Amino acid sequence: MSRLESFIRRLTAQRDILDTICQEMALGDGPVIELGLGNGRTYDHLRERLPGRRVIAFDRVNAANLRSLPPEGDLILGEIGETAQAFAGIGAALVHADIGSGYDDLDELNLRWLPQLAVDLLAPGGIAASGVPLDHPALAPLPLPEGIRPGRYFLYRRR
Ligand SMILES: C[S@@+](CC[C@H](N)C(=O)[O-])C[C@H]1O[C@@H](n2cnc3c(N)ncnc32)[C@H](O)[C@@H]1O
Repeated sequence: MSRLESFIRRLTAQRDILDTICQEMALGDGPVIELGLGNGRTYDHLRERLPGRRVIAFDRVNAANLRSLPPEGDLILGEIGETAQAFAGIGAALVHADIGSGYDDLDELNLRWLPQLAVDLLAPGGIAASGVPLDHPALAPLPLPEGIRPGRYFLYRRR
């Protein structure tokens, strides 16, 4: 499969999974945590699907389109493994992690701290959606929406 096709499938899965979470799953009251703001496309989607909900976005640099720039205080810049620790216990309703680089060796480094961080950020019962697996005993895997190939995206509920 070409990288273009793979990219399209990944983004289709990402949109479908975020839509399922926002429209069909009972989300708690807490904020949404967006790990990997990037251009801000998924941030914008979450903001549109969950109007009025606080969405706190993280990235090492601000490369967001100006139309998708979080308000003051809701964009946290720096290494997520370090900056997001300050938000442990915030009781997030949803953590969305899209910090994949496409390079397996770099992505494996993130896997050392990302699952525990997701647990620390989520409220009990909160949802995590991630482009990489989050193996942690406190995260129960959930079935993916129909049409999403297992392994393309990952969905969990915090126990
Ligand atoms: C695939 S992009 C995110 C795309 C975004 N969801 C969108 O819709 O535009 C991944 C982002 O994660 C960020 N990132 C990856 N690892 C990071 C880390 N350890 N700390 C901070 N940012 C990181 C990168 O800088 C990049 O902007």
